[in-house]
Amino acid sequence: MASRVAVGIAGTGSFAPPVVMTNHDFEKLVDTSDEWIVQRTGIRERRFAAADQATSDLCLQAARQALAMAKVDPKELDLIVVGTLTPDYLLPSCSALLQARLGAVNAGAFDVSAACTGFLTALHTGESFIAAGRAKRVLVLGAECLSRFLDMQDRTSCILFGDGAGAAVLMPHEECKSGEILRTTLGADGQGFDFIHMRGGGSKVPPSAESVARGDHFIRLRGREVFRFAVTKMADLIGEMCEGYDPSELGLVVPHQVNQRIIEAAVDRLGWSMDKVFVNIDKYGNTSAATVPMAFHEALEQGRIEKGKLVVFVAFGAGLTWGGTLVRW
Ligand code: UT7
Repeated sequence: MASRVAVGIAGTGSFAPPVVMTNHDFEKLVDTSDEWIVQRTGIRERRFAAADQATSDLCLQAARQALAMAKVDPKELDLIVVGTLTPDYLLPSCSALLQARLGAVNAGAFDVSAACTGFLTALHTGESFIAAGRAKRVLVLGAECLSRFLDMQDRTSCILFGDGAGAAVLMPHEECKSGEILRTTLGADGQGFDFIHMRGGGSKVPPSAESVARGDHFIRLRGREVFRFAVTKMADLIGEMCEGYDPSELGLVVPHQVNQRIIEAAVDRLGWSMDKVFVNIDKYGNTSAATVPMAFHEALEQGRIEKGKLVVFVAFGAGLTWGGTLVRW
């Protein structure tokens, strides 16, 4: 078997759309309060895409930033993979639209559907292509316009989510000498398909006047059950990613920004403190596939990640799906 090519993260990018929705804005829509939302979730505000923006528009901004940091021309890209549950269209893919907008004329393009695990699934896929010698430059993204699928009369879901995009450029580690991907894992349990789901719009419940009237196209979730699953899964994934490494090597954990309390409970379960955990849910809410790459980019910008230290990404979401990645920055 040919030896595996070590893969590095050469650049990152992030884009939060312009419309700021505060908790007070939601007080005018549903029976809720800023106090409840902050205490139960840690969210203070989130961003919504402008009326003329869709997911590929958010991707374009994050992608350009990541390509500039990596010093990669779009024409050098071999592959583009977008993790999203809210593509511009059901057909064709968001990645294909992005490929055209970037002028990435030599790249293949496809989306992956793994909900909040979307970015880590795209990263795992891109890493595998390069590791196997099938590609040299891969652009991976997690991006969402969740605001288009929120029931603004359902207080149990509408306050949680926001829009955004995060990107990373992958290449052989010996070329970029940064962000070596040491471990990746993906998992799924489709038995939990109805923990978080959108019933309508697919082949099971095709769009119709009746399905729209029922609100089948909105995101529904069983929050308490997800909460319980999430705490254990997040703690287990962090533990699995760090196994065999000395705790002093750990630089930062960048978890899916699902709920401040879920993150704190998982970290507490490990017996760790929050010092080495990055949280920005207060500003963006849960942007599903975009949370991890947006948070990672922001942590880098803030100088929170020291060269040579380990960074852990963990995410889980609808499916159920989950993933983890260990990187040496
Ligand atoms: O990335 C994956 C997708 N994300 C998720 O699936 C979210 C995971 N779950 C969570 O983050 C939390 O479970 C929530 C934030 C959704 C809910 O927090 P909780 O502490 O689990 O609250 P709860 O569901 O147990 O509800 C407590 C009370 C209920 O009232 P009663 O039955 O005690 O009278 C709810 O009706 O809070 C009520 N409630 C609200 N009150 C004010 C639910 N949503 C709201 C709200 N404002 N927005």
